[in-house]
Amino acid sequence: MCGIFAVVNDKTNNAAQTVLTGLKKLEYRGYDSWGIAIKPGRSTEAVDRLQVEKHIGKIGEAKTNLPKGKIAIGHTRWATHGGVTDENAHPHLDCHQQIAVIHNGIVENYLEFKEELIKKTHKFSSETDTEVIAHLIEEKMRPSVIPSEERSDESRNLEKAVFETFNSLVGSNAIGVIDFESETIIACRNGSPLVVGVDEKNHQFFLGSDVPAFLKHTNRVHFLDDGEAVVITKQGVKLFNVKSGQEKKLILQQLDWQLEDAEKGGFPHFLLKEIMEQKETIAKIASINEKEILEIANLIRQGFRTVLIGCGTASYCALAGKYFFANTGFESQTYGAYEFLPFSQFANNKTLIIAISQSGETADTLIAVRAAKKQGAKIVAVVNSRGSTLERLADIVLSVGAGPEIAVVSTKAFTAQLVTLYLLAEATSNKYEPGKKKIKELSKALHNWLNKQLTNRLIDLAKELIDQEHIYLIGKHLNYPATLEFALKLKESSYIHAEPFAAGELKHGVITLIQKGTPCFVLASNDEVKGEILSSAAELKARGGRIIGIAPFNSYEFNEVIQTPDLGELTIFANIIVGQLLGYYLGVGRGADPDKPRNLAKSVTVK
Ligand code: M6R
Repeated sequence: MCGIFAVVNDKTNNAAQTVLTGLKKLEYRGYDSWGIAIKPGRSTEAVDRLQVEKHIGKIGEAKTNLPKGKIAIGHTRWATHGGVTDENAHPHLDCHQQIAVIHNGIVENYLEFKEELIKKTHKFSSETDTEVIAHLIEEKMRPSVIPSEERSDESRNLEKAVFETFNSLVGSNAIGVIDFESETIIACRNGSPLVVGVDEKNHQFFLGSDVPAFLKHTNRVHFLDDGEAVVITKQGVKLFNVKSGQEKKLILQQLDWQLEDAEKGGFPHFLLKEIMEQKETIAKIASINEKEILEIANLIRQGFRTVLIGCGTASYCALAGKYFFANTGFESQTYGAYEFLPFSQFANNKTLIIAISQSGETADTLIAVRAAKKQGAKIVAVVNSRGSTLERLADIVLSVGAGPEIAVVSTKAFTAQLVTLYLLAEATSNKYEPGKKKIKELSKALHNWLNKQLTNRLIDLAKELIDQEHIYLIGKHLNYPATLEFALKLKESSYIHAEPFAAGELKHGVITLIQKGTPCFVLASNDEVKGEILSSAAELKARGGRIIGIAPFNSYEFNEVIQTPDLGELTIFANIIVGQLLGYYLGVGRGADPDKPRNLAKSVTVK
């Protein structure tokens, strides 16, 4: 949550604009408000302090009014402490506008600091936890108790002050600090992501919460580990251990991400682009991770207890994975990672935790993983983003390779994770090669089916449903997690109340909700429960529901059908993609922002 961006040695001498452009790429992390702090360049008259601009709302087409300069930091916020106001937007300043701070995380002990600092006459202008960081650094650099003439050089040791301050913060945090006098940016990480980018050709240096923010400048990066800090000056980037203050060797890696991956590529929204990219991303997974998949399958065969965890979409992926494992004869368990802690006591060195996450930074997932790891469990990360915390915590990484997923609503990362779990399940019963073949067939079928005819049909359906406030969905077995995911896509993208149920639950109370004309989606496949799900559809129809089948067949229980390719248990991929597209068209029709739904952030890095 929240996006951090900074540049040093901006080659255009318009660092504020560079930061603004970078922040746009990070808006998926939070978009309540944004702000920039710059050290104005030499030509700017009579400037003896950092200049700051802050606004509430999304960045959109905003332009910055800040002066020219080569060094700046910026932030896009997802509010935790303090409402959505200009004052609470980052960056936050010390009393003399010499230090500005941007922050991703929560400072759990900020109130005690704030009280002490107020006693020492520091002036606060926001309700945030972040602002204490700026004043703590100021206090350590220019202690208010020491008269200015008595202050030593030591009292202006920026690195020391920032590191000490950072080490005193309780919670998961990443900070970026700009210092007016030394023209330095320091960033520290503990639990929230940070990556530094080096553009050697132009001698420019970048800091971001994620790579897409500066991908157009460089793909040479270092992902900071917990406990690491970088000090960025005109001369370059130095890496430190934030606890000991010792310098470490900075080793850059070159990513194979292309700029186009982080651009809309002619699509009106990232969401639509990413849905359509599934034609390629799904096939790609059949040719990666073979060694790791076979290794994990071996552990499962050896009797490791398999526990799948994740949050939101990733938790539905985990549930679908549980059915895939059951279909190959292996029992597994699933938990929403946020509910795992009471059960972590049962993990031991014969437990295999399969943690699923697009970002690899979801706080609840990381907490669950750490708890299981403490008990000796082996951790497998099924993750899309690169260089994430989850990746570092894992014993084995299944990187799903869907490429940057910018839209807040997860689509291509979800299907990439689901393919990975399918292949893993197939591998446990020695069917990895036939599994790969089936994924290639799935990809081919999606390629043909995901066409104009389908999208036009869904646009028409979206027009018919546009004013609905309640939609119900049912599914059984593999189509049950598919139904959960389908409903989440409708909710996130269009804000329509979409409630999914296991078909078997209907008669136990839920059926009271169905009235004449209530839209009811029935997700089905040509499987052993086809008859049962159609009976449930008939029961809904008998109560007046408008039954919309999502299935590879038509049937008289349906009032209408969106026909999907017949791919056995893999039919759920197409069934879910219908939900992704329908959610998108409904959202656009209802005036929602499909890439940045209200109140959400892409990566939920707070508890
Ligand atoms: O990055 P993660 O996969 O760990 O994120 C988990 C959820 O926050 C995420 O799937 C969320 O539910 C999305 N909004 C789904 O579209």
